[in-house]
Amino acid sequence: MTDITSLILDDHDRFRRAFAELDDLASPDELAQAWEPLAALLDLHAAAEEAVFYPELIQRGTDAEDETLDAVGDHNDIRDAVAEARRHPAGSPPWHAAVRQARTANSEHMAEEEDDALADFRRHADPGLREELGRKFLAFKAEHEDGRGIDTGDVDPERYVAEHEQQTGKDTPEDVSLGIGGLKEQ
Ligand SMILES: [Fe+2]
Ligand SMILES: [Fe+2]
Repeated sequence: MTDITSLILDDHDRFRRAFAELDDLASPDELAQAWEPLAALLDLHAAAEEAVFYPELIQRGTDAEDETLDAVGDHNDIRDAVAEARRHPAGSPPWHAAVRQARTANSEHMAEEEDDALADFRRHADPGLREELGRKFLAFKAEHEDGRGIDTGDVDPERYVAEHEQQTGKDTPEDVSLGIGGLKEQ
């Protein structure tokens, strides 16, 4: 079973459990050991969704444009908090503050993504496509395991949507002007 919406939910469950496990740890070494794979998965999950899931949602969803703008903006908030945590020693007050920020941003985002984007996609994508995208999602994650080759910089939400609408012919003249340039803001 490789339905992409189910694979995304599996990662979301991993996030909830991994953040909860941090609550039981106190030593900097333990916190660092638990946090690093969680931080890597947060970045990898957002990149995999942006590479595989959201471009397909844009083609099919009822409210896909707003859902995608929201999601990419939320992913930026999560990426920023993860990057901030990486600047401080595990267990230090600024590290705790950044991890808290990542957790809150991620929890809010997962709820919206599950109730809006994933629900919208299930209503408009057939089971075969959901399976095919699931395989691509897993392949992307395997290729970039531990964050290898992932760009963790912010992605401009408007530009991302415009580029993907353009690729699928859903663009308007206004969107074309926004769609110039790369996906990532450097
Ligand atoms: Fe997600
Ligand atoms: Fe997401």
